[in-house]
Amino acid sequence: MGQIVFAGAMSHVLDPEYYQRACGALGRRTVEECMAEIARMGERCSARGLDALIVVADDHLNAFSFNAVPALCVRIGREVQRMTQDHAEAFDKVLDHMPERYPLHEDLANAILEQGLDAGFDLALSWEAPVDHAFLSPVNTMLGARAIPPLVPIWVNCFVAPQPTARRCFAFGRHIARVVAARPWRVGLIATGGLSHFPELSLPRVGDTDTVFDKRLIHCMERGEHDPLLELTAGELHKAGGHEFLNWMVLIGAVTPAAADVRYFGELPRINMAAVEWRLP
Ligand SMILES: [Fe+2]
Repeated sequence: MGQIVFAGAMSHVLDPEYYQRACGALGRRTVEECMAEIARMGERCSARGLDALIVVADDHLNAFSFNAVPALCVRIGREVQRMTQDHAEAFDKVLDHMPERYPLHEDLANAILEQGLDAGFDLALSWEAPVDHAFLSPVNTMLGARAIPPLVPIWVNCFVAPQPTARRCFAFGRHIARVVAARPWRVGLIATGGLSHFPELSLPRVGDTDTVFDKRLIHCMERGEHDPLLELTAGELHKAGGHEFLNWMVLIGAVTPAAADVRYFGELPRINMAAVEWRLP
């Protein structure tokens, strides 16, 4: 019987140079402290001997476009390539130093996709979408030079209204847990992004954060009180800049009612950075 043996969530812009420019020395120090905790999470993750690592993150309108914006999309196939962009944002430039290709766990991805459709989730699929900083910065920061297990990248539409609901993301996480439980693999699951901030996609609000809102989310995660999180509305998430918490909701659904330990929380004028790890049975 399969098992989720590691679950963690973390911010996904992990670039000291970017935060040095955006927020000065405090920005650099904050992201470096956060990255150090993420690396320690990676040591614990590696020690659990994963067969696969599911990564739930959002697109920033560079893998997909307004041609089609999937609500939930599973990357299938044998391998995935790192995104390359001629005019990459600084924090996508950090990808240049990372491996170019990553093996996928084809059987697990196919099972999540096929059984998801059977279960009523109208999932999108992609054979060729590349992965950007939202996937690769956390994975490479966690695992460093250690082996990266076969990945299952999953996209959640966090930014283009109308997004899937928090409740729907949680339900999709429950689905992932059922698929894992019925298979033989030891699976890690990470969700990335946040906490509150506005990306350049929402330029007039860049610099807004909502620490009260983030602390409320953390309170619920630390206590394993997930019911209030199901009630989060798109309006609340947009008001606070908590859009990317939808990725975290998938993870929370997969591990509920597990409680979480906050490994790092740091406030910046640009974003509240966090790294959180769940206590699994
Ligand atoms: Fe993001």
